Amino acid sequence: MSKILIKNGKIIRSDAIIQSDMLIKEQIIQNISPHIEDDEAQIYDARGHFIFPGFIDAHTHMGVPIRQTTSADDFDTGTLAALHGGVTTIIDFTVQRPGESLLASLERRQDEANGRASVDYALHCNVTDWEAIQRDEFRQIMDRGVMSFKVFTAYREAGMQLSDRQIMEVLWQVKQVGGMVMVHAENGDMIDFLTDKYVRFNKTGAAYHALSRPAEAEIEAVARVNTLNKFIQCPLYFVHLSTRGAVEIAATLKQNNQKVFLETCPQYLFFDQTVYDREDGYRFIAAPPFRSGQDVQFLWQALGKGWIDVVATDHCPFSLDQKNLGQKQFHRTPNGLPGVETLFTILYNEGVRKGRLTLQDLVRLIAEEPARRFGLFPRKGSLAENSDADLVIFDPQGEGKIHAENLHSKIDWSPYEGVPTQGKISAVMLRGQWLLKDGQAVAKNWNQGRFIPAIPSA
Ligand code: URP
Ligand code: ZN
Ligand code: ZN
Repeated sequence: MSKILIKNGKIIRSDAIIQSDMLIKEQIIQNISPHIEDDEAQIYDARGHFIFPGFIDAHTHMGVPIRQTTSADDFDTGTLAALHGGVTTIIDFTVQRPGESLLASLERRQDEANGRASVDYALHCNVTDWEAIQRDEFRQIMDRGVMSFKVFTAYREAGMQLSDRQIMEVLWQVKQVGGMVMVHAENGDMIDFLTDKYVRFNKTGAAYHALSRPAEAEIEAVARVNTLNKFIQCPLYFVHLSTRGAVEIAATLKQNNQKVFLETCPQYLFFDQTVYDREDGYRFIAAPPFRSGQDVQFLWQALGKGWIDVVATDHCPFSLDQKNLGQKQFHRTPNGLPGVETLFTILYNEGVRKGRLTLQDLVRLIAEEPARRFGLFPRKGSLAENSDADLVIFDPQGEGKIHAENLHSKIDWSPYEGVPTQGKISAVMLRGQWLLKDGQAVAKNWNQGRFIPAIPSA
């Protein structure tokens, strides 16, 4: 029976920071107390280091079709990147094909992930073809451990946009079974209209990407879905929010005790729309686009105030060749950015070190809250007795820089190239097994990641 005793670390939880020892037995945390002795355990001395719960990236897209290509990381490479960034659980999405049932899409996605992932994973269920769905499927999907159903108010050309009526039907069905609806909120018709106009007048540079998907598109869609939900009251989760206006609308409902949860991504906290004026601006095409500097400042404040619940990456990387497929034309460039490996690094360096977040906020945003929202808590996202022994040990000393060549995603660039960093992840543990130790990959077996079924709280 394997036991590991981690001594002298500083344990970072959302409610407290404690200097303590931690005993891991087999896959779980058995004991956390100031002085543990155990002659049978292997000792790991974490003096001077922080111990975080394994991070959770609640929004990734491994190997998904976008425009004329497929996002570059599959479950294999994407989870390798994840673990090097301290992410021990990802939550990815099913991809419903036209005419396909939700159950078939879930089974297909589980087949794609099974035996390929090096970290644990859960799934959200995309609902993109309403007509193909049997109503009792929502219950069956919940019974298989998937509690979050995602709808899109954009991407008509990709066959993903639902009408308001269909969104209400989904809200209704999901409410009946005790799940949550996730929303990609951008007004697709507004975007399609503006895109057509810009393209017709040959305005296809990256700056027009932002102009064709204005802040109003996000604000309107968040307001509209909340209005549709007024009659249904299903728990809602808005993904990748990028604007002050949208966050204010959703946060106001949250303050009025509605079950509305908000997500933003590191990229919306780091870049503003001026990036699209760069020569390589087309690489940064993602939906929604980057916004004004004021929006960026506001998002940081909203995180600190607890208005935004989760930071997740929307990891959807494309190589430079793939980004070039659209020949720098915004409407032909595959949209999405890498992020899973730099989630913690960006939040720690841009958030904690710049005084915008505390270490405890960081744990709340990328471990505890994603676990709570998606039915994984307290098994995941928690440093407590009986939780899975998923840990990140971080050495806050030493300086470095982000370089694509040191990252593990299957792409040849990073949006964060050259960004200065402090500290490094020295060890990562997944369910009691070291994946990284002393900065080196040490897992005896890779691809040991398991599907973690969601257990919705009552
Ligand atoms: O541009 C993005 N974000 N691509 C991934 C798909 C999505 O909308 O989340
Ligand atoms: Zn989206
Ligand atoms: Zn996404």
